[in-house]
Amino acid sequence: MRHWLEIFYRTSAGTLLRRRELNQDDGKKRAALAALTHVEDGMALGVGTGSTVDFFIDALAERPHRKLRLVSSSERSTERLGRLGLDVTELSAVGDVDLYVDGADEATQHLHLIKGGGGALTREKIVAGAARKFICIVDDSKLVGRLGKFPLPVEVIPMARSFVARQLVKAGGQPVWRQDFVTDNGNQIIDVRNLDISNPVEMETRINQIPGVVTVGLFAHRGADLLLVGSAEGVEIMT
Ligand code: A5P
Repeated sequence: MRHWLEIFYRTSAGTLLRRRELNQDDGKKRAALAALTHVEDGMALGVGTGSTVDFFIDALAERPHRKLRLVSSSERSTERLGRLGLDVTELSAVGDVDLYVDGADEATQHLHLIKGGGGALTREKIVAGAARKFICIVDDSKLVGRLGKFPLPVEVIPMARSFVARQLVKAGGQPVWRQDFVTDNGNQIIDVRNLDISNPVEMETRINQIPGVVTVGLFAHRGADLLLVGSAEGVEIMT
């Protein structure tokens, strides 16, 4: 299927994009619906951020559960949940989260992830850290053999941006400031290209140790517990 789409791209880019979006949305929706089957009444449920999670939120609103306590990972998701009549509770008032459902920009079969394309990585990492179980939902275009083709987002304290960028160059990357973007926490994002992420755990540790880094969008120390990969064919489950 992918191969066919690539051939199509060379002949008619516009048509391919429409086909690909359709296929991607199909996969995202399937993964989101599969995650919904893991939600139980009374749970403290963490809700991630992004277009894949939007499908999850919409499905959740259509099939409400009793006494759910929802913790949101972003203002964006909080707004969508609220619009659909689903109230959000502060993480501090909930304590541990039973289940966290979130998307990713890249995922490996080892359940390591790159996240933060939408800039919500810090709150996402907090909720993932507080969660007993983390289910990651992606369409099959996100599945990679090695992380790093997608630029790695790093949230930084604004005054540290240039310093952190220089350290990221020393780590072998090409940092690019995501201009005109401020995170929900009032910080900035650097997207890092061309990093060698052959050892995601090591790279996560290394970048986390740079002063001024709030969060790196590598989720390797705390990767997903379950990866649901949706495609036009169905949902593949990886553990
Ligand atoms: C948000 O900051 C990200 O971590 C998202 O989870 C990630 O970008 C996936 O988004 P999509 O589901 O829109 O691809």
